[in-house]
Amino acid sequence: MEIFTESQTIQGIELGRNVDIKTSSNNNPLTIKLKEDIDVFIWAKQYKDELNKMLLDHGALLLRGFKIDGAKNFNKLFSIISGKGIEYKNRTSPRDRVYNNVYTSTSHPSDQTIHMHTENSYSNLYNRIIAFYSLVPALKGGETPIADERKLLACLKNETIKKFREKGIQYVRNSMPGIGLSWQTIYQTNDKNEVAKILTSFGHEFEWVNEGHLRVKWTLPAIQRHPITNDEMWFNHMFFGLKCLYDPAILEYFEEESLPFATYYGDGTEIEPEVIKEFIDFYKENSIVFKWEKDDFLLLDNMMFSHGRRPFEGERTTLTTMGQPQEMIT
Ligand SMILES: [Fe+2]
Repeated sequence: MEIFTESQTIQGIELGRNVDIKTSSNNNPLTIKLKEDIDVFIWAKQYKDELNKMLLDHGALLLRGFKIDGAKNFNKLFSIISGKGIEYKNRTSPRDRVYNNVYTSTSHPSDQTIHMHTENSYSNLYNRIIAFYSLVPALKGGETPIADERKLLACLKNETIKKFREKGIQYVRNSMPGIGLSWQTIYQTNDKNEVAKILTSFGHEFEWVNEGHLRVKWTLPAIQRHPITNDEMWFNHMFFGLKCLYDPAILEYFEEESLPFATYYGDGTEIEPEVIKEFIDFYKENSIVFKWEKDDFLLLDNMMFSHGRRPFEGERTTLTTMGQPQEMIT
């Protein structure tokens, strides 16, 4: 049975008498649960500043029990709290647009894990905020684990941080017909000149290996300052692109230089197994894993919290939208 705090306040923040607040644990993010049926939009407008203050402190908020009821209202609620959703560009995830800038979270196969990552943290343009909305929870599994990247940075060994700080992270990405996302989907254009323009503006190296195969290589810092708190954040896509996390069948199929998405130290050298273990151990011990309920709305500070996806059975429709675009400081 869930036990909610009796008080409707947390650290002096009050959200009205219609909600209960449950502090975060391994099984739940900071959760705001509706007690009575109220208009979620009126409530969100009234407490927008408080919600944003809570998000800035805690990095993750789950709104539960609110009658959101679909993509349109998810978009509306997100806009009230975080501002207008932005278009999903420079993609890594197969997604369908559902309404405005609301997308299906991913159509990645249901039997596979999506490893922990912060959205668009491989990109020169990223979103500070990301939200998820559970339209249809999976029959079994399909959780979205989340982890506090501030805690990760505090747990990493000093020499690990030093190495990443000095070298940054190199990303190598290959797009080819029938494998992962096509270059047309990633860059949202059918024009190769337009792709060249985008990549040049980012300062990325690229080559057309053949007519349909584009290889792109770029390096970005491992750490960014949070645009509001100015704190240093571990903000990159290193973990997501580790070869050791790939399905062995994929590793066998591809030459290393043609893997769909791979990460290295910024000088192109391999990240050592003992360094990778620090991350694997951290996510194993520190991920918050909760069971989705229909109409759950999860709001993340995308720099403070990473997310992933566990395999699932049955239908699962989770929607996502992103907001507050930022430019990576290189
Ligand atoms: Fe994601």
